[in-house]
Amino acid sequence: MVEAGPAPRPALCGAELEVPLVTGGQRPYVNLDYAASTPAMVAVARAVERFLPYYSSVHRGAGFKSQVATAAYEGARERLLQFFGARDGDVAIFTRNTTDAVNLLAAALPAGSSVVTFASEHHADLLPWRREGLKVTCLPVPGSPEEAVAALAGALAETAPADLFAVTGASNVTGELWPLEQLVRVAHGFGTRVLVDAAQIAPHLPLDIAALGADYLAASGHKMYAPFGAGILIGLPDWLGRLEPFLRGGGAVDFVTTDSVRWSELPARQEAGSPNVIGAVAMAVAADELQRYGMDRVWDEESAMAGALRAGLAAIPGVSVYAMWPRATERTGVISFNLEGWQHSLVAAVLSAEYGIGVRHGCFCAHPLMLHLLSVPDSGAEEIRARLAQGDRSAVPGAVRASIGLGTSRSDVAYFLGAVAELARRGPQIHYELDPSSGDHVPALLPEWARARAAELVSVASPGY
Ligand SMILES: Cc1ncc(COP(=O)(O)O)c(C=O)c1O
Repeated sequence: MVEAGPAPRPALCGAELEVPLVTGGQRPYVNLDYAASTPAMVAVARAVERFLPYYSSVHRGAGFKSQVATAAYEGARERLLQFFGARDGDVAIFTRNTTDAVNLLAAALPAGSSVVTFASEHHADLLPWRREGLKVTCLPVPGSPEEAVAALAGALAETAPADLFAVTGASNVTGELWPLEQLVRVAHGFGTRVLVDAAQIAPHLPLDIAALGADYLAASGHKMYAPFGAGILIGLPDWLGRLEPFLRGGGAVDFVTTDSVRWSELPARQEAGSPNVIGAVAMAVAADELQRYGMDRVWDEESAMAGALRAGLAAIPGVSVYAMWPRATERTGVISFNLEGWQHSLVAAVLSAEYGIGVRHGCFCAHPLMLHLLSVPDSGAEEIRARLAQGDRSAVPGAVRASIGLGTSRSDVAYFLGAVAELARRGPQIHYELDPSSGDHVPALLPEWARARAAELVSVASPGY
């Protein structure tokens, strides 16, 4: 009997895309922006296409299509509970994204709750706690994973009882993995629940919420190869079940009169309005494909590539790579850097316009962490605020971020490193202008043919309505 070999790497939409270069011609696009949004898997796009004829109302429709759509939607919920290793009794609520999921949990915290977090979090896990009725302790960016664990223990000993500790699985700026197991152990020792913001780890490493012992997990479909507008919050049902619906409306109620309402139980209670069935199905198919390929394989392959990317960048003269914990070794393939003498916005613009490489620049929705990594003093923050008030975004400091995923090849990494090295050596080939209102650099003299080609590509890519 012939043994089946390991599953092939999931194919991604747009993998063959060619983009125009301002220096002439075009070349295959090198996408190094997975930390922001991943491309859709081909299997996800196909599944969505297959499902579309059956797309219909869920839960209340009596027709055949509604029954199929309801089964697909509820099946997707079950599938994602399983993918993330949820416990019996955990609830999964479909949201729009991680931001929506964290906001939902923040609203569900009992009044007067206290929340502990670190200043290094993404804004999505930093700002939802700043609301009336919650007490927030925001710990400074720790100097090492061990310091993070000690700082949490110290803070919980002082603030006890804290109701929730919220932490990311991996930094969206530096890729460093947070010591989740130890943090959960410490938090639970004080009776504090833990939310893991899994936006940056869900598609990159094996994750088992039950084994980890975390109480809640939030993730986004568009960061796990299913960009159809769904996210998820998984975890303990009690707070979420006591919260009056975060959104009020149809779907979240069992019975309404003009002066009374009987809210539904979970999960419907927190999913008012017509749900994003397509997004949920897409996310579940992506989870299937990731699992078929093997999350251990994803992690092994991506960490090897991330190591090469990191070492290669660090070896380029003039490049500074940022890290909270320079000695820590466990990192996802997210790396932020600056090139001496060139603004981050210019480096990103040149990589795109002259090399066809897509990266991100700025503060990556983690302003306090970036200010820390760039050693910006409080007076610098004042100056930035003043310039922003005048409509000048160019004062906001930042870095360039390259991030990898399933579609990244060794040759992409080599090409990117060559481009950064060449840019460090000889600078841009054309002139770029800074647009203060966006803080972006744009090619000053985009050749006419490149402008026409870009317009053509945009019209091909847009559905035209
Ligand atoms: C660590 C982390 N948390 C939360 C988010 C927010 O995700 P979304 O924009 O999908 O809500 C991001 C997005 O970059 C992230 O990197």
